[in-house]
Amino acid sequence: MESGPLLGVVPVIAQAALETTIEAPIQRLAYGGEGVTHVDGLVVFVPWTAPGEKVRATVVERHPRYARARLDAVLEPSAARVEPRCPVFGRCGGCQLQHLTAVAQREAKTQAVIDAMERIGGQPALGRLACEPASSDWQYRERAVVSWCWADDELELGYHHTDEPDRIVSIDRCPIVDDRMDSQLPTLRIALEGALRDAPATFELGATEGRLALRRLPPGSTQAALFADPVDLARYLACEVQEKTDIETTWGGWSAESRLALARDAPRLTSRFRHRGFDLRCGFDSFVQANLSGADRLYDAVIEAAQPRPDARIIDAYAGIGVITCEFAAAGALVTAIEANPGTASDLRANAHANVTTGSVHVLELPADRVEWARPRPEIVVLNPPRGGCPKRVLAGISASSAKRLVYVACDPTTLARDVRRLGTGWTLESLRAFDLFPQTAHVETVAVLSRPQR
Ligand SMILES: C[S@@+](CC[C@H](N)C(=O)[O-])C[C@H]1O[C@@H](n2cnc3c(N)ncnc32)[C@H](O)[C@@H]1O
Repeated sequence: MESGPLLGVVPVIAQAALETTIEAPIQRLAYGGEGVTHVDGLVVFVPWTAPGEKVRATVVERHPRYARARLDAVLEPSAARVEPRCPVFGRCGGCQLQHLTAVAQREAKTQAVIDAMERIGGQPALGRLACEPASSDWQYRERAVVSWCWADDELELGYHHTDEPDRIVSIDRCPIVDDRMDSQLPTLRIALEGALRDAPATFELGATEGRLALRRLPPGSTQAALFADPVDLARYLACEVQEKTDIETTWGGWSAESRLALARDAPRLTSRFRHRGFDLRCGFDSFVQANLSGADRLYDAVIEAAQPRPDARIIDAYAGIGVITCEFAAAGALVTAIEANPGTASDLRANAHANVTTGSVHVLELPADRVEWARPRPEIVVLNPPRGGCPKRVLAGISASSAKRLVYVACDPTTLARDVRRLGTGWTLESLRAFDLFPQTAHVETVAVLSRPQR
């Protein structure tokens, strides 16, 4: 996101060469949580710092337009600095902001959204935005994916190292994970370790790695999925772990390149829970907000922005298991819900069937870029895509449709800003709200409302 002045002047480049020690004030935090300072006009990112403090740091990465430095000492600490709660904070890649007060974390997130919208989105004057608290600060995650690695008869289980992503930082507990699930991590570790140690020789375990996905949707109990290569190993591990822990498990193959998916013959582990007055079904492979109670604020903001009324034609795209869809239909709207994942689409259909008595729901089980957006003649479109944002085809389809109001829920302000710019000048950004669903991390959720004249 940074585009500071380019230098190209020999003495300046020399000053920020590798292993140069700098002493500098941190001006602000960039999106992602790193502090930003300038050394003779060159942008230097220093992690684990706070705006306003003076630090000593050593340059460890040098790029043409910016450098990255390792924090050596905080010379003048900020009043926003606090003692991190987690013993592996600073090494573990899971959290970026534990060293800041909750208020300072939200200020940083506000600034990140403003920066993205101004620099990437071309949207000036967003100064009134204030990231809203949406969650408890700790123990809020109801799902998590931890990595594991088995080498030299030892199990490492945890998140990836912040500086060396190939390394795993072992953890026994994670303070942002729901305590009831987190407290089972040591038991899961022992069971997985035992299963790997006793694995039949046919698996030929040398060094091997995989993932352990955990989920606990109240009032249910913890469920887990083991991912490994080959998938037979994952099945074996899942069965062993279930037997040793009584935690329900399933499994899938794993590779560094592809996303986690359950194996065809693996149980889907369906959870049933009540949320926002709806009885919902959610398979283990369906998306569910990682912080479900915090997500209420996000859903409220969407309903408030869309103002669904009886017979309004609304597209809910990237609909997941259909929480927003059910809300709109409950208000009497005629909803077209788009969801590409077949298992998730089947949950969505079941949830609409179980909960919708007014309005109507039509599910399109298609990737959003293959939808004919004009066909349902939408008045309102809600978008909630994955982190990468929307393909250009989707934005073009919406622009060519009858929609006059667009509510865009984003988990990455930089892709939101990019998509707002791509939508073009026909649309006006009416409002923007940011929510802190993931305290201690740099993640920030946003709800942007765009409108255009009646078509
Ligand atoms: C961020 S989730 C949002 C889910 C839902 N709105 C909610 O709040 O629970 C994104 C959803 O989009 C789905 N998805 C991913 N890529 C898609 C695509 N190309 N077309 C349609 N749906 C997609 C995923 O399966 C997931 O359910």
